[in-house]
Amino acid sequence: MEANVIPTVLGVMEKKDSLTLIHLSKVQQFINLMIPKLTQKNIISEKDIPDLWTSAILHDAGKIFVSDHLLKTEMRLQQEEMRSMREHPVRGYNFLKSLNLPENILSAIKYHHERWDGNQNGRYPGYPEGVKGFDIPLFARIIQVADAFDAMISYRPYKSQKPVSESIKEIKEQGGRQFDPYISQIFVESLSHYKMN
Ligand SMILES: [Fe+2]
Repeated sequence: MEANVIPTVLGVMEKKDSLTLIHLSKVQQFINLMIPKLTQKNIISEKDIPDLWTSAILHDAGKIFVSDHLLKTEMRLQQEEMRSMREHPVRGYNFLKSLNLPENILSAIKYHHERWDGNQNGRYPGYPEGVKGFDIPLFARIIQVADAFDAMISYRPYKSQKPVSESIKEIKEQGGRQFDPYISQIFVESLSHYKMN
């Protein structure tokens, strides 16, 4: 892996869409909160931590290839726009594969929008492949929860913020549906010290 992939991607993202850059670093921070429990419960080992961090900070790298208009619009996306936005996991995967990132990081990026139940319909469908359950790579299942939680509590031009308490409740409720139930439980437990609003 080329040593400066992370600063290069983050540098491009900073110029393109600062909200995505902030999101990447917040997801990495939420992963940091989870790491003690993930290692304690032997879900990951110490040696996995650097690759999990890299996966978290790069998970939306494919958004570099999404048009500025789509990233910044204040409108709900139309069907065709949504289709284009939902290409970002595969675009990120292909781009980082060309830079020789290892497969465990690549697969986390490719599958971070899949759903535990494999549902590909509804408001939050799993994509790109409809992979489900333990077929979703572990790092992707960890990132999914942190990613969704940050999306809930953060301001976006097209939606309001959800209070932390309500967002935690939703993460719990979506265990076994959107998320790996065990990982969603660990996330909620790891957040016990997180400042409530
Ligand atoms: Fe994403």
